Amino acid sequence: MTTRARRFQFVAVPLTLGFIAAASGTGWARMVMRPRGFAAPLFALEDTPVGGLAAAAETPAYASSNAIAAISDGQLQLGAIAIDEDSGALVRTNRTGKLVASLPIGVGAAQLVYDPQAKLAYVTDRRGDRVIVVEVSANGLKQKAAFATDLEPFGIALAPDRQTLLVTTIADRSLTAFNPITGQVKWKRALAAEPRGVAISADGKRAAVAYLETGTVDFLALAGEVGQLRHVALDASPRNRNGGENAARGYARNSFAVQFMGDEIALVPFQRSVPVQGRISENTGSYGGGFAPPITQHLAFVGLGSDRVNQAVAQVNNHQVRAMAWDGKTDTLYVAGLGNDTLVAIRNASQDGASALTSVVLNNAANRCGPTGLAIGGDGSVAVWCSFTRSVANVFFTERSSSVVGSVTHGPSLVASSMNEVQHQGFVAFHASDVRTSSAGALACSSCHPEGRADGLTWRIEKNELQTPVLAGRVVGTHPYKWDGGDKDLQTSLTSTVRRLGGVGIDNKGATALAAYVESLPRPRAAARGTDQVARGKALFESAAVGCNSCHDGAAYTDNETHALEGTLTTVDTPSLIGLAASAPYYHDGSAATLPAMLRNHGAVYGMAETDKLTPTQIADLTAFLETL
Ligand code: HEC
Ligand code: HEC
Repeated sequence: MTTRARRFQFVAVPLTLGFIAAASGTGWARMVMRPRGFAAPLFALEDTPVGGLAAAAETPAYASSNAIAAISDGQLQLGAIAIDEDSGALVRTNRTGKLVASLPIGVGAAQLVYDPQAKLAYVTDRRGDRVIVVEVSANGLKQKAAFATDLEPFGIALAPDRQTLLVTTIADRSLTAFNPITGQVKWKRALAAEPRGVAISADGKRAAVAYLETGTVDFLALAGEVGQLRHVALDASPRNRNGGENAARGYARNSFAVQFMGDEIALVPFQRSVPVQGRISENTGSYGGGFAPPITQHLAFVGLGSDRVNQAVAQVNNHQVRAMAWDGKTDTLYVAGLGNDTLVAIRNASQDGASALTSVVLNNAANRCGPTGLAIGGDGSVAVWCSFTRSVANVFFTERSSSVVGSVTHGPSLVASSMNEVQHQGFVAFHASDVRTSSAGALACSSCHPEGRADGLTWRIEKNELQTPVLAGRVVGTHPYKWDGGDKDLQTSLTSTVRRLGGVGIDNKGATALAAYVESLPRPRAAARGTDQVARGKALFESAAVGCNSCHDGAAYTDNETHALEGTLTTVDTPSLIGLAASAPYYHDGSAATLPAMLRNHGAVYGMAETDKLTPTQIADLTAFLETL
């Protein structure tokens, strides 16, 4: 095992290309971006591989959730279809990435799969709560049907036999199996919080669901006891522990994607977050309070063959993996990082000898790409969905002497963004690994605030341990900012955030852009609920006896004041209660795991309100109301 680990560590490290952007008024969009900073290897296995000596069985691309699908005719690459979350348009491109047709689905539309036999695409309309079925022809896209889903559909996968379509929903936390032809619901299963991608194995016998916050991947039986669920914890324990003295705990976060290679190997990219590093005495003032980057990027190979689940974790160079594609013909896995625009090809991916083959930088001189989708064409080229430019880039690989070199051709921007220019600059900056916003570009805002939400972690910052707050829908009119209310306005808060993250700094324009983007994010949606219970909870919240709205008042449920409660902070800002269902745990120190726990036993904060006398039913009613905010 050690020999193998060592072998992989010598993979080339094309990093620290040292272009440090001048922080003067050039704006975000015009910077030349390169992967750099955090000295991560391209691909380095940290454990014994789970694969065997033979390549896994080919798995159709439509068996896993993606933002792009290739359209091929035998060997011919005919183009692609992609869903643009920003504008909400489904686009069809030709082989050079130019627009052939587009079809509006809805802003925020998330993922798609494409059935090449039926020539049908299935797209999740996240805000419209439906799956749209689209006929894809040589020169057009036409809506054929729409199936209603639970609230906030995201992930989508079609079984290899094309008889079952699986859809994950975020607000309602469910997995639904549809008949893809009739739209009839076959069965439904409850999921944990913040599910995202879904994938089905080559033999159609199991499905996997990825999550942003649970640190697990869930496996579901699709044969035998259908719907039976198994949680597998992703192994996020930090490896180099300095002789055991540094007992830091790691958490697996931000798994947007999941994919099977064959029947028994699932791939789950994740981010390892270490919110409290080292001992308090060696507090370095940085997030996590240590010296090492508190966030690193990983790919878990989960082997399901034997009775025991095996797991091999690799460190990867891709910052925030949102997209993967596996070419079963050549056993090559492609992995792309949203934050640093690297595309890494891994050879013998499903086997014991998986290793980095080559890497390509996806941005061009003018723009970052922000890859969120990858697809393999019939000719082996890779189509990339660039979410920042709303365009398709094609990567062609050629063998030169003994190495493989990838070259990128960029297609034009295909649709107009739904954001204005300033918001869009903030959107890119929020997701980019960049030395301006964090030390060595190791952290992006979206590393801890994915989609403007929270990672559910409590970070050591200077002398305190502070929970990551939800930003989406929660920053307009909720000044002051930070748990201690120390920042009077959002711009000040962003400048201080960047300083804490160890970034070289952002100028006023940069702060304005980030603020404009964060302010534009829609609040997390709440699950459908019984209205009577919610009404009872609302009455309690507003009653003189309970008196929550004496502080949590107005549209954002805050009095914009700080209060001296009993806890680790002398004064605490009254937080907005928007998006509570998506923001567990609670309180500045994250000491209350759930809302009922907070109302029942206070966590570690005392003196907020008289909740001791509430009956279990009243707590349930109040919780139901709070979770709708
Ligand atoms: C390492 C995880 C992490 C990263 C990376 C991160 N944040 Fe945060 N964020 C936090 C935590 C923890 C807090 C609470 C800190 C406090 O209250 O002092 C916070 C607080 C905030 C707040 C205050 C919100 C409020 O309602 O008071 C804003 C705004 C914010 N972050 C924006 C950003 C932006 C923009 C970026 C990128 C430049 C970013 N964050 C990067 C973890 C993170
Ligand atoms: C005296 C003003 C005040 C009153 C009254 C009050 N709160 Fe709070 N609330 C606060 C403050 C301040 C915090 C932050 C405390 C901390 O984190 O240390 C807070 C935190 C919370 C949080 C955690 C939010 C998060 O994102 O972690 C919830 C939920 C909450 N309050 C709900 C309620 C409910 C329900 C009631 C009525 C039973 C109530 N509050 C009454 C001031 C108040």
